[in-house]
Amino acid sequence: MSRSAPYQPLLLRILHGVSGILVIAAITTGFLVYNTFDRRFGKLPIPAIGEIQDIHGTLALCFLLVLPAFAVYSFHAGYKRLLQPDSLQNLTVFGRPSWWVSLQRIANTLMLIASVLAVISGRMMKEEWLPSGELNHIWYFFHLGAWAIMVCCLAIHLLMSSKVGGVPLLISMFSLKVRPEDSPTKWSSRFRSWLSNFPPNLRVQINHLMENNLSLTIIEVIVLVGIFVAFILPLFFSGNE
Ligand code: HEM
Ligand code: HEM
Repeated sequence: MSRSAPYQPLLLRILHGVSGILVIAAITTGFLVYNTFDRRFGKLPIPAIGEIQDIHGTLALCFLLVLPAFAVYSFHAGYKRLLQPDSLQNLTVFGRPSWWVSLQRIANTLMLIASVLAVISGRMMKEEWLPSGELNHIWYFFHLGAWAIMVCCLAIHLLMSSKVGGVPLLISMFSLKVRPEDSPTKWSSRFRSWLSNFPPNLRVQINHLMENNLSLTIIEVIVLVGIFVAFILPLFFSGNE
């Protein structure tokens, strides 16, 4: 890869690659679960797969396990690829390159929000509902809605990434090249220097937030709290509503 081609940090490629594969697998197997037990809103002529719920549950749970790491990475090391303070303002002038870049960053951010909706509603699903014909649980409708939102956001994410950077940008996410300065041997020292900023000086942090990207910080809190809730929610609810 030439030096001018887009380069994505190795850790981003790993976390994004694993999450991306698991999300696409969850979307596909989720649809197959619907196609096996429900089919009210349309169907595909695919034979029912007996074990599909277990397969979906396992893949989706794996996604939930990597999501915290991916989200923390994106909101910190990768924050420049998410919503920026001027993103919404840039959307007022249609067609300029900054319009598309802003939309792409908003689309990246939406992927994280949509993921949280999918994992929270998924954690409230019960294995017994669909096989026994219980198709009207509120959490099932939320989970179906989350699937539709996820599909739309993924389509926008891919369209915007290809519009902004074309095929080279898409390919850069799957490239196996590693620059020496990005080698895993450097990760521990970089992680230590990141940790050395903790605990942060609260006043400095708040000033920094107000001057920089308050909206993104609010979204980060919502996403991280949402992921935490997805982990613990089934402990508090029987999910029979
Ligand atoms: C039409 C689409 C979908 C349907 C019908 C569906 C259905 C289900 C069902 C029946 C369960 C319970 C499985 C079990 O307990 O073994 C479940 C769990 C789950 N789903 Fe989905 N799903 C869909 C899409 C998605 C998508 C797109 C995601 C995420 C990207 C997702 C994430 C989850 C999660 C995190 C769980 C909890 C897994 C666990 O705790 O073991 N689902 N889903
Ligand atoms: C085939 C599927 C996918 C492709 C080709 C793809 C492509 C890309 C590309 C090229 C970027 C970098 C944009 C840039 O450098 O400006 C990106 C970033 C991002 N993608 Fe994807 N993506 C895919 C699937 C997903 C999925 C399923 C998710 C949801 C979990 C996701 C979430 C994100 C996020 C949050 C970012 C920003 C990361 C950061 O802040 O560092 N992507 N994607």
